[in-house]
Amino acid sequence: MTQTNHLLQNYRSAPITIVRGEGCYLFDEGGTRYLDMIGGIAVCALGHAHPGIADAIAQQARTLVQSSNLFGHEPARSLANELARRSGFDRVFFCNSGAEANEAAIKLARKFAYRNGEKKRRTILSCTGSFHGRTLGALAATANEKYQEGFDPLPAGFRYTPFNDVEALKSAIDDSVAAFIVEPVQGESGVIPAKTEFLKAAHELCTQHGALLIFDEIQCGMGRIGQLFAFQHFDVRPDVVTIAKALANGLPIGAMLLTERVAVGLQPGDHGTTFGGSPVPCAAGLAHLRIRDEIKLEQHVGEMSAVLFRELRAIADEFADVFGEPRGLGLLAGLPVKEPHDAATLVTFARESSRVLFNKAGNNTLRFAPPLIVTEEQLSVGMSALRSAAQSLTIPVGAK
Ligand SMILES: Cc1ncc(COP(=O)(O)O)c(C=O)c1O
Repeated sequence: MTQTNHLLQNYRSAPITIVRGEGCYLFDEGGTRYLDMIGGIAVCALGHAHPGIADAIAQQARTLVQSSNLFGHEPARSLANELARRSGFDRVFFCNSGAEANEAAIKLARKFAYRNGEKKRRTILSCTGSFHGRTLGALAATANEKYQEGFDPLPAGFRYTPFNDVEALKSAIDDSVAAFIVEPVQGESGVIPAKTEFLKAAHELCTQHGALLIFDEIQCGMGRIGQLFAFQHFDVRPDVVTIAKALANGLPIGAMLLTERVAVGLQPGDHGTTFGGSPVPCAAGLAHLRIRDEIKLEQHVGEMSAVLFRELRAIADEFADVFGEPRGLGLLAGLPVKEPHDAATLVTFARESSRVLFNKAGNNTLRFAPPLIVTEEQLSVGMSALRSAAQSLTIPVGAK
């Protein structure tokens, strides 16, 4: 393997090189097998190198890879139809990533107001602790200094309100707000689910003030918390939903789902992207939806979620000095790590000693987002690795 590395050093990548994946396992260049409890950060829902996805990609690559948006093609149309059928939304816009899906939603909200003659309705309201992506518009909505620092001036017209605080939301939403964007489960800030009453209040207040409600389901959507869409779990229907990550099980794609009422905001020429909704990722997305039905993934996620949270609660009780209360829904879980311990130390220990991959999110939290096909046995191996990592912190240094 080449030792030269010209990659920009903007990631804190672990010192292993992954060459191959299979189901819930990744393999490095020395052949070492790792149990993957993070799934490409909530991307590889059906695991790695799924034959059904690989076949769909290969077949589409042999047929048509790109034709531009100057012409229609079947994979995008079929995937849009499938997403519309399953979500109840009317229109689908495809792009290439989560940040781009949120950019589209932000642009839609402003243009929708503009087309309705409300040219002063410009504000995009989002929540503290949110993560909506790294492009400038999405970053302006990401109310977290850690991500914004040094990138000013960010686009104007963004305001923030505390997550899960209904009273604050009541004061924040007024007739200048074009849209309120919210993650039903905040992922990057440490897996914090929204309270149902907060999302319901958001729906009511947005309706009352004529603002659009946008759910960013980029991390928590596509079956991650049980149902295909997070809004179905909370039983709150927004005007716009953004998805990405797991949509094509690993190929780059993002999407904005919207109602017919608000879709009039974006007319021909208003927005676009060269690669958005190109045939190969759309074919992979279609295969993903078909396979999840065949293997009854929704039911499986419910069963595995019960196992995961039972184990996490037991571990949190056992190591009360190390961990706080587990949080999350479905197969998206966060386990807060108490000071002076550091989640990063646990991640390294589990990888090096047990060959199990976890990830650190937000405020010193361990994040678990395994492939949704994970088995009970695999979860049990993962949880043993977590126990060993926690034990390593509590053993006196001399005894290690
Ligand atoms: C909730 C949420 N929104 C947006 C994004 C940005 O997605 P992408 O990295 O594909 O641009 C992420 C990525 O982690 C996310 O979790």
